Amino acid sequence: MRGVCAVILAAGEGTRMRSRVAKVLHPLLGRPMVHYPVDLCLRLGVKRVLMVVAYQAEEVKNVLAGRPVEFIHQGEPIGTAHALLQTEEVLRGFEGSLLVLAGDTPLLREGTVRQLVEAHRSADAVATILTTRVDNPAGYGRIIRDRDGRLLRIVEEVEAKEKEKRVNEINSGIYCFSCPPLFQALKRVQVSQVKGEFFLPEVVKVFVEQGQQVHTLLSPDANEVLGINTRAELARALTVLRQRVHERLMESGVTLLDPQVTYIDDSVQIGRDTVIYPGVFLEGATTIGEGCLIYSNCRIQSSHLGDGVTVLDGSVILASDIAEGCIIGPYAHLRPHSRLRRKAKVGNFCEVKKSVIGEGSKVPHLAYIGDAIIGEKVNIGAGTITCNYDGFAKHETTIEDHVFVGSNTNLVAPVKVGRGAIIAAGSTITEEVPPDAVAFGRAQQVNKEGRAAETRKKRQAIAPSKEADDD
Ligand code: UD1
Ligand code: MG
Repeated sequence: MRGVCAVILAAGEGTRMRSRVAKVLHPLLGRPMVHYPVDLCLRLGVKRVLMVVAYQAEEVKNVLAGRPVEFIHQGEPIGTAHALLQTEEVLRGFEGSLLVLAGDTPLLREGTVRQLVEAHRSADAVATILTTRVDNPAGYGRIIRDRDGRLLRIVEEVEAKEKEKRVNEINSGIYCFSCPPLFQALKRVQVSQVKGEFFLPEVVKVFVEQGQQVHTLLSPDANEVLGINTRAELARALTVLRQRVHERLMESGVTLLDPQVTYIDDSVQIGRDTVIYPGVFLEGATTIGEGCLIYSNCRIQSSHLGDGVTVLDGSVILASDIAEGCIIGPYAHLRPHSRLRRKAKVGNFCEVKKSVIGEGSKVPHLAYIGDAIIGEKVNIGAGTITCNYDGFAKHETTIEDHVFVGSNTNLVAPVKVGRGAIIAAGSTITEEVPPDAVAFGRAQQVNKEGRAAETRKKRQAIAPSKEADDD
């Protein structure tokens, strides 16, 4: 959108959130709320994106690092008109349409903003306001029109009379203004007697008094302009955003067994014929291939899963890379930088961290694999752990192809097990195992013939009644 600049108002504290964190920093489907209007402006290709900040300004700037936004400080947030007026200096000399968005209206769609700017331009208007009709207008500015339907003014909730409160057409807080006339009008906005703030919607009254008509565009979708002021509204916005993501995914061939209890960030990509069970969270830059099964109560974050992967119930996968055909879980924890090659398996109650599990290799039960490189077709017995930490530093374990590690083995890193070796169950391996060797790292078993019977006899002589109580 050439010739259009945008201002996002994000200086307010958001007191109705009752939070230590500024309202616009609250997360919404994996991203801070303030990302939504900024990314919308960037998608629209506006000339400049300005943001008015005050409360927790540094934190707001931090979450927007890397995005081309110019920040303007509003010393004290004393109203939306005052906030917008702070941009006068940086917009000096700008002649064109100024799009004004609020930092707390994240559901707004690109198409609607385009329509607003087009309506504004084609009417050659001084100001055009996006409105909508809602069932419950409480909290919003009401659109007050004359008998012919022309906009007269906008009345804020705090100043509205009973009759005005019943008006269900509301101000979305999204505007298109013509510059420079906007700034002269803003200076004439009177402070609210009730709230002591300079309300931006009051600029309508100023224009109307000057004999200039203010235009409106009615959005048919009230959801889209939902302003978030409370935690309840935050939850409603989340529901709408999730629904949009779910529709996109289902349309592209993904099965969501129960979308009501599925949480998928907008950034997630999923291949067709993948089935997502209830209670699944898919977060960040996660990609999931075709024909995967993600069972209940799994959380997958910033990870890549190839085609045909099965993740069984209750598993957590973080920043990991899973090749096609792998089986994970139930109750597996893949911590960052885990790589599973094709058809690998990490099963029941296993934890893997910063390790490679080679093609066709299996870690089926109750194991901890950390800082390890495991080759192809390796079997790791139940209860095996890599002792990767000596209390000071982390060390690596290398297990070459076709190794069999017996159950309950401790691999004390740094250590290497050569190709095709076998490790006896219950071993503590502290030294390198050569290829094709069998390693016993445990005390030799001793059998004392008849000793058990003798022991029982002795015990009975001391406390005869005790034996029956044993369980
Ligand atoms: C505002 C509108 C209301 C509209 C509603 C739509 C005003 C006075 N009212 O009400 O007509 O129906 O949005 O959601 O504008 N901000 C600043 N500086 C300030 C005050 C606020 O930058 O001094 C920012 C806030 O951070 C927020 C946005 O402006 O992102 C809107 O402020 P908010 O307090 O949420 O206004 P509402 O009461 O929702
Ligand atoms: Mg608001």
